[in-house]
Amino acid sequence: MSEITFQLNGSQTTVPVTSPTQTLLDFLRIDKGLCGTKEGCNEGDCGACTVMIADENGTRALNACILFMPQLDGKAVVTVEGLAGPDNTPHPVQAEIVTHHGSQCGFCTPGFVMSMATAHENDAKDFDNQLAGNLCRCTGYAPIIKAAEAAANAPRPEWMADLIAPPSLPSKRASEAVRIAQPSSAAELGQWYLENPEATLIAGATDVGLWITKRMMTLDTVAFLGGIKDMKAIEYDDDGMHIGAGVSVSDFLTAIKPLHPDFGEMLRRFGSTQVRNAATIGGNIANGSPIGDSPPALIALNAKLHLQKGDEQRTIALEDFFISYGKQDRQVGEFVRGITIPKQVDRLKAYKISKRFDQDISALCGCFNIIVNDGKVTDARIAFGGMAATPKRASNVESTLLNAPWNEETVREAMEKFALDFTPLTDMRASAEYRLDTAKNLLLRYFYEDTGVNTRLLSVTP
Ligand SMILES: Cc1cc2nc3c(=O)[nH]c(=O)nc-3n(C[C@H](O)[C@H](O)[C@H](O)COP(=O)(O)OP(=O)(O)OC[C@H]3O[C@@H](n4cnc5c(N)ncnc54)[C@H](O)[C@@H]3O)c2cc1C
Ligand code: FES
Ligand code: FES
Repeated sequence: MSEITFQLNGSQTTVPVTSPTQTLLDFLRIDKGLCGTKEGCNEGDCGACTVMIADENGTRALNACILFMPQLDGKAVVTVEGLAGPDNTPHPVQAEIVTHHGSQCGFCTPGFVMSMATAHENDAKDFDNQLAGNLCRCTGYAPIIKAAEAAANAPRPEWMADLIAPPSLPSKRASEAVRIAQPSSAAELGQWYLENPEATLIAGATDVGLWITKRMMTLDTVAFLGGIKDMKAIEYDDDGMHIGAGVSVSDFLTAIKPLHPDFGEMLRRFGSTQVRNAATIGGNIANGSPIGDSPPALIALNAKLHLQKGDEQRTIALEDFFISYGKQDRQVGEFVRGITIPKQVDRLKAYKISKRFDQDISALCGCFNIIVNDGKVTDARIAFGGMAATPKRASNVESTLLNAPWNEETVREAMEKFALDFTPLTDMRASAEYRLDTAKNLLLRYFYEDTGVNTRLLSVTP
């Protein structure tokens, strides 16, 4: 592609693509002089750069610092400069931020306002979640949440419909500019990736974005996967739930919550609203991270992974994908097409252990799916992130549980087997001892919860 067309604060804008990885934040602040969108961390953590992005899939808050310009093609972008009405009437969230004294130094305010306006647009009222990706260091959150609550029932401003309308003109997709591909189907990606196997695939860019802004890498040949519609579907049949690799963590959360509520609850603590809106399930698997949050839960649910190379597909157990640190069972030119979660009774508990409750990477993540019939364990799938160089099953623990009576004695015996399954590392998130002790205790926690003991204490009461 040689240029992209998008709507910026209500005006159709066409710009040449000079680099595949120019961020929206740099474009706004440097090329356009729109400095209302702030740069704080430049890595998706603080929300100071939050903008509103709309397309046929809805309206989302995203971090502009890890959003590449080609990802905007055909979308509408609203920044804090464009949010007020044509006669400068403030958006209800802007008015309420003023009324409730929701701003002091003001650095975080444009980001908060854009998250709040997006929540208003989507009629979302779970403000702790909606704003968990926005950090404020001086005002404190109470006045900001009060402002969001006060604005919630105000009618949607009539000018918003025009602001979030997508552009009417398509951009030019010059065939000579093959180094930036925007395939629209898995078949198109398959063919292009075979011809360009050295290329970097970019889905939500919540990992790749940091390669650019923090590691200062340059990427030459890239394919943006955001336009691949047949990798964005969630479908159900007798085999279970089929999730395309391009499904965002937000959409996956909505779909998985009714089937496996604990998985949904764990994903609610995956990054922030902005990160979940961009991040894909495919990216969370393909990056091979030992601390990615979805793989342990998916492995515990016995998920199958679908890979595609050219037009050939193969399916493997997800756990077999992770071979060793940085090495996955993925051939040259092969990509993650999707996953299937088999239909099953919900017995999953997913425990994400991190230093901070919201917006933090796991120190460890333990996922348990233990089937008990007539007081005996008839199946056990236990998988952990953060305990080894890859997401990994606790095979010795599982085999100790299997066919044993489901009681505390069995559980305590199985707890001792974690040391056979894992030799965790000490790093800045946790020590090896903490990780091993916590893993053991999570099994006990699963048992207690299963037998009616409430262990989920989010607040301490005197
Ligand atoms: C602030 C912040 C907070 C985060 N919090 C969490 C968290 O709580 N839990 C967590 O697990 N992760 C977290 N992450 C990491 C990241 O969001 C996830 O790993 C995410 O799922 C990556 O998906 P993506 O679509 O953005 O991947 P991208 O960044 O686009 O790609 C990641 C990697 O996967 C490859 N890739 C992407 N799609 C495919 C495909 N279909 N086939 C083959 N290769 C592919 C890319 O080439 C790249 O190597 C966080 C990141 C940030 C910036
Ligand atoms: S600048 Fe902090 S999230 Fe973008
Ligand atoms: S008002 Fe200063 S950081 Fe929020």
